[in-house]
Amino acid sequence: MTAQVRSVARVIEPQRVSDGAGVKLKRSIATASLDYLDPFLLFDHFGSDNPDDYIAGFPMHPHRGIETVTYMHSGVVEHKDSLGHAGSIAAGDVQWMTAGHGILHEEMPQLRGGHLSGFQLWVNLPARLKLTKPVYQEVSAKSIPEIVRDGGVRIRVIAGKVDGVQGAVREIAADPAYLDVMLPANASFRHAIARGHTAFAYIYEGDGQFGIGPAAAAAGVSAPKLVVFSDGDSVEIQAGKAGVRFLLISGKPLHEPVARYGPFVMNTPEEIQQALMDLRNGTFV
Ligand code: CO
Repeated sequence: MTAQVRSVARVIEPQRVSDGAGVKLKRSIATASLDYLDPFLLFDHFGSDNPDDYIAGFPMHPHRGIETVTYMHSGVVEHKDSLGHAGSIAAGDVQWMTAGHGILHEEMPQLRGGHLSGFQLWVNLPARLKLTKPVYQEVSAKSIPEIVRDGGVRIRVIAGKVDGVQGAVREIAADPAYLDVMLPANASFRHAIARGHTAFAYIYEGDGQFGIGPAAAAAGVSAPKLVVFSDGDSVEIQAGKAGVRFLLISGKPLHEPVARYGPFVMNTPEEIQQALMDLRNGTFV
């Protein structure tokens, strides 16, 4: 069988929503048009020069059965949680939080310089890990490998492997790739993704052609959009005249039943009831 470049299955227009205590977001997964992209449960892009759009933040709230991945581009989010853990996530930093059995935390954007932007991804956990002990991987900007190729192509490797360089976040059940890719005008990028893994790109600046195999010759897209790739062995992207910046994210699908209620994602409705009961009885964390 010959290696196949993935074509574009869908192009998703992010929806403008408000979440937390009134944070304005562009949401591309966990919407009516794309509810679940196994194993990815939610994808949000927040970004504004107006503090009113983000300052109310995400006051104390629970999570169970999932991982939340926060990647900041500018500004600072301070967080603290029920495990006594506190810190800040600043530009270029990543927090990969495996909530497992349960965590209560707050995520509060800070007013420093005005502009705030970043991304939050939710990754589903397999049934066997839904009640695992909570774990954090906090990676500072300087610990994230950045690959610079000829022609000015830059790739920050948050998770996965590029040119033999292993990403900063490891030991995640979904075996994910999470790359932040910057292509100058007309540059191209190719990346191998295991057949059967789900893959998407979130274009946040500029435009380009995604999946330039024969099936997707015309899939030119401009920011902000989320592109879902069909199955295959690799993705190919060609930047447009102004260059393009995007996240490339992939992971192994679970193919398990999903029972979802806000920040709890389990396999059955009974497990959701249990989470609510634990929260009421103070046995959640
Ligand atoms: Co949260």
